[in-house]
Amino acid sequence: MFNLESPPGLRSRGVALLALLLPSLASAAALDSRDPVPAGFASPPYYPAPYGGWDGDWSDAYEKAAALVSRMTVAEKVNITAGTDFVKGRCVGNTGSALRVGFPQLCLQDGPLGVRTTDNITAFPAGITTGATWSKDLMYQRGVAMGEEFRGKGVNFYLGPSVGALGRQPRGGRIWEGFGSDPVLQAVAGAATIKGVQEQGVISTLKHYIANEQEIYRMYNPVQQAYSADIDDRTLHEIYLWPFAAGVKAGTGAVMTSYNAVNGSACSQNAYLINGLLKDELGFQGLVMTDWLAQISGVGSALAGLDMSMPGDTFGNNIPLFGYSNWQYELTRSILNGSVPVDRINDMATRVVAAWYKMGQDAADYPPPNFSSNTADRVGPLYPGALISPTGVVNEYVNVQADHKTVAKQVAQEAITLLKNDDSFLPITTSAPLFVFGTDAQADSQGINSCTDKSCNRALLGMGWGSGSANYPYLDDPISSLKRKAGNVRYYNTDSFPKVAAARDGDVAVVFINSDSGENTYTVEGNHGDRDATGLSAWHNGDDLVKNAAAAYENVVVVVHTVGPIIMEPWIDLPSVKAVLVAHLPGQEAGDSLTEVLFGEVSPSGHLPYTIPVSEDDYPASVAIKSTPKLSQIQDTYTEGVYIDYRHFNKAGVKPRFAFGHGLSYANFSFSNATIARSGGQLSSIPPARSSKPVSPVANIDTALPPAADAYYPAGFVKIWRYLYSWLDKLEADAAHAIGAAGSSKYPYPTGYSPTQKTNGPPAGGASGGNPALYDVAYTLSVTVTNTGTTKASGKAVAQAYVQFPEAADNGGFDTPVIQLRDFAKSDTLAPGESATLTLQLTRKDVSVWDTTAQNWIVPNPGGKYGVWIGQASDDLSVVCYTDTLACGNGAQGP
Ligand SMILES: *[C@@H]1O[C@H](CO)[C@@H](O)[C@H](O)[C@H]1NC(C)=O
Ligand SMILES: *[C@@H]1O[C@H](CO)[C@@H](O)[C@H](O)[C@H]1NC(C)=O
Ligand SMILES: *[C@@H]1O[C@H](CO)[C@@H](O)[C@H](O)[C@H]1NC(C)=O
Ligand SMILES: *[C@@H]1O[C@H](CO)[C@@H](O)[C@H](O)[C@H]1NC(C)=O
Ligand SMILES: *[C@@H]1O[C@H](CO)[C@@H](O)[C@H](O)[C@H]1NC(C)=O
Ligand SMILES: *[C@@H]1O[C@H](CO)[C@@H](O)[C@H](O)[C@H]1NC(C)=O
Ligand SMILES: *[C@@H]1O[C@H](CO)[C@@H](O)[C@H](O)[C@H]1NC(C)=O
Repeated sequence: MFNLESPPGLRSRGVALLALLLPSLASAAALDSRDPVPAGFASPPYYPAPYGGWDGDWSDAYEKAAALVSRMTVAEKVNITAGTDFVKGRCVGNTGSALRVGFPQLCLQDGPLGVRTTDNITAFPAGITTGATWSKDLMYQRGVAMGEEFRGKGVNFYLGPSVGALGRQPRGGRIWEGFGSDPVLQAVAGAATIKGVQEQGVISTLKHYIANEQEIYRMYNPVQQAYSADIDDRTLHEIYLWPFAAGVKAGTGAVMTSYNAVNGSACSQNAYLINGLLKDELGFQGLVMTDWLAQISGVGSALAGLDMSMPGDTFGNNIPLFGYSNWQYELTRSILNGSVPVDRINDMATRVVAAWYKMGQDAADYPPPNFSSNTADRVGPLYPGALISPTGVVNEYVNVQADHKTVAKQVAQEAITLLKNDDSFLPITTSAPLFVFGTDAQADSQGINSCTDKSCNRALLGMGWGSGSANYPYLDDPISSLKRKAGNVRYYNTDSFPKVAAARDGDVAVVFINSDSGENTYTVEGNHGDRDATGLSAWHNGDDLVKNAAAAYENVVVVVHTVGPIIMEPWIDLPSVKAVLVAHLPGQEAGDSLTEVLFGEVSPSGHLPYTIPVSEDDYPASVAIKSTPKLSQIQDTYTEGVYIDYRHFNKAGVKPRFAFGHGLSYANFSFSNATIARSGGQLSSIPPARSSKPVSPVANIDTALPPAADAYYPAGFVKIWRYLYSWLDKLEADAAHAIGAAGSSKYPYPTGYSPTQKTNGPPAGGASGGNPALYDVAYTLSVTVTNTGTTKASGKAVAQAYVQFPEAADNGGFDTPVIQLRDFAKSDTLAPGESATLTLQLTRKDVSVWDTTAQNWIVPNPGGKYGVWIGQASDDLSVVCYTDTLACGNGAQGP
C-alpha cells in the first residue's frame, strides 16, 4: 500500500499532493482519456461474483459466518466491508464493526517484513533475502515469527506476503518485497509465509494482484490513469498467477488487488481477474481488498468481485481525506436502490467473517490493537483524523520480539550469496588487517529510523523504502560486528575513496556498496520508487569506490546490500577483487550474520533469486520502466511473454555474469545417485475432471431487499467529521429504497453482466488453488549431495530442480523455456565427506502448459521426454533424469 503518489518532476510530497488535487477541481475529464489497449488485449466480462464457501476446508468457517451475517442489518454488513477512515484509526486500515452481533473492528497493518510504524518488533530480512536462502524451512519459520508479532500487537490482517511485483522489471521499485524473479520461488516462499503467519491466527493478505511490476504511474489519480499491464493468457497463468495459485492453495485469507490495470481494466474492478481467475478458477474463499485508495468505483467494483475497500476513502475521482467513500453509505444506497444485488453484499460480508472465524480470531484471547500507527506517544487522539477527538492510551509498547532475532539472523545469514571467491580467498582470519570502506557498513548516525518509511539511502541498507519497511528496534551493523570480532580494523566512513597508506601484504580491503529502491510514495535521490535514476548501478559512486580500493589493495572483498540485480562489470574481473558477497537486505541482523561468513564460522549458502546480467541491455527491451509521462493510460505490453529473467537469457543465448541460482560455498558439493520415480501411473494429457461445486451457505442468507429503516443513522447520532459511516439519512435511505422496491433499476450494467450464479466452475478449478489434481505429485526425485571439499569447511547445499519440456514439435506445438525451476531443497550442514539425500517433487502442474483454447492445464505429450535437471545453479546442472525412461545420469552438461 502507500500514501500518495510522487510523480516525476515534483520534489516534495506536499507539492505532489497539491498538484494532484488542484487539477481535479478543474478537469475531471483527463481521467477518461487513455491510449487504446493494444489490439487483441481485452478484459472479458465475468459475472456474477462467485459465492465463497464451497471448498471443504472452509465449510465450518462459512457455516458460522453465514449464521452471523444472517443476523446483520444492511448497514452492519456494509460496515465490515470497508475501512472507516484514512489515517484515523490505530492501524493503516480499520474496518467498521458490527458490535451488536459481536463482530469487532478489524486492524490491517503493513508490511511484508514486520509490523510497520511501531516499536518493540523485529525488523526481519526482506522477501528477496528470504528467497535467497532457498530454505523452505526458514521461509516458514520467518512466517511463524512474523505471525506471532502481528498477533501480539493485535493485528488481524498481515498485509503480506508480496509475490507481485514478481521481478519482471529489474528496476521495479518493490521487487525486494517479494522472493525473486521466478514464479516457483515466489510460490514456495509465499505459501510457506502464509502458512507460518496464519497458524498464529493472523489473516495473511497475498498481494499485489496482479502485475504491479513497476512503481511509476501505478496509481489512478485525478489527472492520470494507472498504467495497464497488457498480458496474454498463457503468460499470466504460467508466470504471474502461479504464486497466487499457490498462496490460495495454502489458504490465504485475503488477497489485495494492485493499483495498476490489466488489459485496460483497473485491477480493483477487473471482473475477469477477480470473479473469473481468482474466485472461480483458483477457488479463492477469502476476501479481496483494494490497495490503499485504489478503489475507483462503487457499484462496478462490487459487481467485479471486490469485497473490501481500503482504507475506505475515495481517491480516483474525488478528493481524498475529506470523508468521501465509494462504499460505506454509498454501498448501502446501492443495495437499497437495487443496483448491487443483496446476495453480493451477503457474500462480501460472509467472506470477511469467514476469514475471521477460519483463523480463530473469534477466540476471546485474540488481542485488540495495542499500538498506534499515527504516533509513538503513549497517549494520543482516539480518532486522529477528527478535528476534535477524545484522547486515550494508544501505545502500550507491547514487546513482541520473543527470540525472533534468532530466525531473523538465520535468514539474513543463509541468504548471503558468495558470487566470486578467487583462490578460495574467503574466509579470512580475524587477525588480518582490515580496511573497511563505504558508508553502507555502518548504521545511520542520524538515527536508525530517522527517515520516514526508510525514504533515504543513508548508511547501511537493511531494507527498501515505503510501506514495505518497518522500524528497526536496533540495528546490528557490520562495522560494529567487525570491530567486535577482528583485532585490526580501520574504518573509512565514506563513499569517496580516501587517502590511505600504502597497502602491505596481507591487508584486506572490505568495500560496502548498495542499491536501493522502494515505493513510489517517496522519491529518493531522483528514484521514483523504481530505480529510474540510478539504473542497476551501485549508488553513491560505489563502482568507483570498489575500483579505487582495487587499485590500492591486492585483496578486496566487496559486500553488496541490494534490492535486486546490480551491474558489476566495472570491477568484477579486476584481479584484486577476490571475493564478492551479496547480503541482499538483511534487516536488523546485518552484522554478525555477515561477519560469521567472512571469518568462516559458517559457509555462505545463499543463491541468487535473480540473474545478474553483464549489461542492462541484455534484458528484453519490453521490461524497461515505462516512465514517459502521459495524460492518457500508459500501455505496458508484456511482449516478452514468459521469457523473463533466466527464461529470457537462456532463450536468447546470452550469457549472464551470474546465473539465476548461482551461489558458492566454502565447501564443495557434488551431486550423485539421482533417482526418479513416477508417483501414480502415466499422466493423462488432461487432468481428471474437477468435482462439481457444492452449494454455498451464502445461498441460504436472505436476499430480500432490506428495510430502509435498517440504514438510518441512529436517532441523535453525532457524526465525527471525515469518519465513514454505513448509515444514510432517513430521506436518502427512503429514496434509494423506493427505487429498489420498484424493481426497475436503470443501472447501466456492464456488457455480459448476469446476477445468476454459474453452477459449474471452470475446468481448471475445483478447490482452493485450482483443480486439486494439478497438485498431485507426478514424479519424485532424490539426489545425494556430498561435501567433497578439500578444506575443512562444512556447509549447506541447495539442490535446484529444473524441468526441460520436450521440443515444441514433441510438445503439442507449445514453445517452452529451455528450463524452468520447479522445486528445490536445502541440506543440513554437511561436514567434509558427509552426504545427504534430498527429495524433490514434480506435480502435474509442473509438467503442464496452459492451453488457452482448452482453458486448462494440459500435458501435451505425457509419454514425452521431459528432462529434470538438478544442480546448484541454473547454469550448473550436473545431474539429469528423464520422465520417459525413468533413468538418471551424472556428469551431464546442463541445457
Ligand atoms: C488480456 O488479453 C489477452 C489477449 O486477449 C487475453 O489472453 C487475457 O486473458 C486477458 N487477460 C485479462 C486479465 O483480461
Ligand atoms: C460501524 O463501525 C463503527 C466503528 O466500529 C461503529 O462505530 C459503528 O457503530 C458501526 N456501524 C454499524 C452499523 O454497526
Ligand atoms: C495488547 O496486547 C497484549 C498482549 O498481546 C494484551 O495483553 C493487551 O490486552 C493488549 N492491549 C489492549 C489495549 O488490548
Ligand atoms: C444506486 O446508488 C449507487 C450509489 O450511489 C449509484 O451509483 C447508482 O447509480 C444508483 N442506482 C440507481 C438505479 O439509482
Ligand atoms: C519498547 O517498550 C518499552 C516498554 O516496554 C518502552 O519503554 C520502549 O520505549 C519501547 N521501545 C521503543 C523503541 O519505543
Ligand atoms: C543411492 O540411492 C539409493 C536409493 O535411494 C540408496 O539405496 C543408496 O544407498 C544410494 N547410494 C549412495 C552411494 O548414496
Ligand atoms: C572445489 O572444486 C574445485 C574444482 O572442482 C577446486 O578447484 C576447488 O579447489 C575445490 N574447493 C574446495 C574448497 O575443495
